[in-house]
Amino acid sequence: MRVMAINSTGLQPDQGAGGEPNGSHAPLPSDVAEALSSVSLRCVECWSRYAGIEAGRSPRYRCDCGGVLDVEMAFSFPWHSSQGAQGLEASDDSPTTGSLSHDQAASVGADLRQLFGERVANPPIWPISTDLLLDCSGVWRYRELILPAPEQYVVTRPEGNTGLYPVGIENCGSGRAGHQQIGAFAGLERFFLKHEGENPSGSFKDRGMTVGTTMALMLGAKAVACASTGNTSASLASYAAQAGIRGIVFLPAGNVAGGKLAQSLAYGAQIVQIEGDFDDAMRLVEQVCNEQGIYLLNSLNPFRVEGQKAIGFEILQQLDWQAPDWLVLPAGNLGNTSAIGKAFRQAYELSLIDHLPRIASIQAAGANPFYRSFKQGFTRRESVHAETVATAIKIGDPVSYTRARRVIEESDGVVEEVSDAEILEAKAVIDRAGIGCEPASAATLAGVRKLVARGIMKHDERVVGVLTGNLLKDSKTGIPQEVGGSVVAANIDAVRSALTR
Ligand code: F0G
Repeated sequence: MRVMAINSTGLQPDQGAGGEPNGSHAPLPSDVAEALSSVSLRCVECWSRYAGIEAGRSPRYRCDCGGVLDVEMAFSFPWHSSQGAQGLEASDDSPTTGSLSHDQAASVGADLRQLFGERVANPPIWPISTDLLLDCSGVWRYRELILPAPEQYVVTRPEGNTGLYPVGIENCGSGRAGHQQIGAFAGLERFFLKHEGENPSGSFKDRGMTVGTTMALMLGAKAVACASTGNTSASLASYAAQAGIRGIVFLPAGNVAGGKLAQSLAYGAQIVQIEGDFDDAMRLVEQVCNEQGIYLLNSLNPFRVEGQKAIGFEILQQLDWQAPDWLVLPAGNLGNTSAIGKAFRQAYELSLIDHLPRIASIQAAGANPFYRSFKQGFTRRESVHAETVATAIKIGDPVSYTRARRVIEESDGVVEEVSDAEILEAKAVIDRAGIGCEPASAATLAGVRKLVARGIMKHDERVVGVLTGNLLKDSKTGIPQEVGGSVVAANIDAVRSALTR
């Protein structure tokens, strides 16, 4: 077997990931080395480029200048005659399509639409081949645009395949009169909600985590870790358990919703509660991962962002590749804004869609550094001490600032802020429509309502909003806790009388 010398677990000599044996310079399997040879990492600040995996070095999460990194891939479409098995070399001008002519890109786009359509048509029936299992995942279905991972390493539930609910005044039929209340609240005729809370661990994080954990196995890592406001940790704990590796999560003590904490505990992750906020936990987990050779699975890890792109691809496919006018989502650490923006740009460059949707990132007013920067034309990077009821997005110094700023600029997007009261009001509307979501997700609807009221979003534009987490994640915030006088004696008269009240 041809091997490439690499520090596959990222362990420094004489150090171990929680007592694991030293994996320094362990050989990287030839199939992994070959798969990653088409991948490089580009600094979003100074544009330096690095190999996807550097021989003899721990996994890299930052450029030498400190900037975060973005994955660039030479896409390979072996079935495409004009490209051959060589695929498309990334160029500085267009990392996605390199030197493709307009006609070639159109032809690649048509082939991809057909391929993804065939894959989505495969029902999951057991026994199932690995190939079909990948097709059933709403992430790996788009694998040519995500990560060239050898199948044996892929850790998938499978994830994705989440609902896209028509909730606008016009695009909502009478069978969904309850859902229509959402469109009426927003003031939109054609409005869809993409419910990422329907992922296996109940949030959009599973899309990045399936790819991050797969990378961990490809690199031979024995332990993975993240800092989290709760959802990333629940997802990491679940995928680490599935992969049979150690999961460690750093949480801001007292600031994680009960459902999320319960998940990390139940899935068996080691929990480190930090007396501080998410930003403290983030700083510490990065340091300890680099010191101890633990594979870092925050969205600082550029491969996680690649997985999250699948939200964008899946939305486009569900809309039959008719791109919406707007995509709206809640924003905290800004990984998701970066990922969905990148997906749309790649889909556009590959002629999968004919225009770029505008992106609106919505922040809680008490955790609004990105909004503050946007208001100043992005001339300054701001940070704040974060405070909001939406604990998932209680983040004051987002890691993916530069990546997300580019997305807003490139897509002619906007950043909006909403108060806690506005978030809770919107959450009640989503909950009472029978869809439900966790508080941070409701920032999407609160933001849409505000942007429509301000005339930035037109009432007849096609808008997709992302709900990022499941209602059950947080059973306390914004949900009436009083069951009320519903306990009645166990006889029919008492029941009749209760119903007349
Ligand atoms: N919505 C929910 C439910 C989240 O959990 C998060 C982030 C976001 C929105 C914001 O996404 O960070 O990509 O801008 N949660 C992270 C976590 C920070 O640790 O679970 P982002």
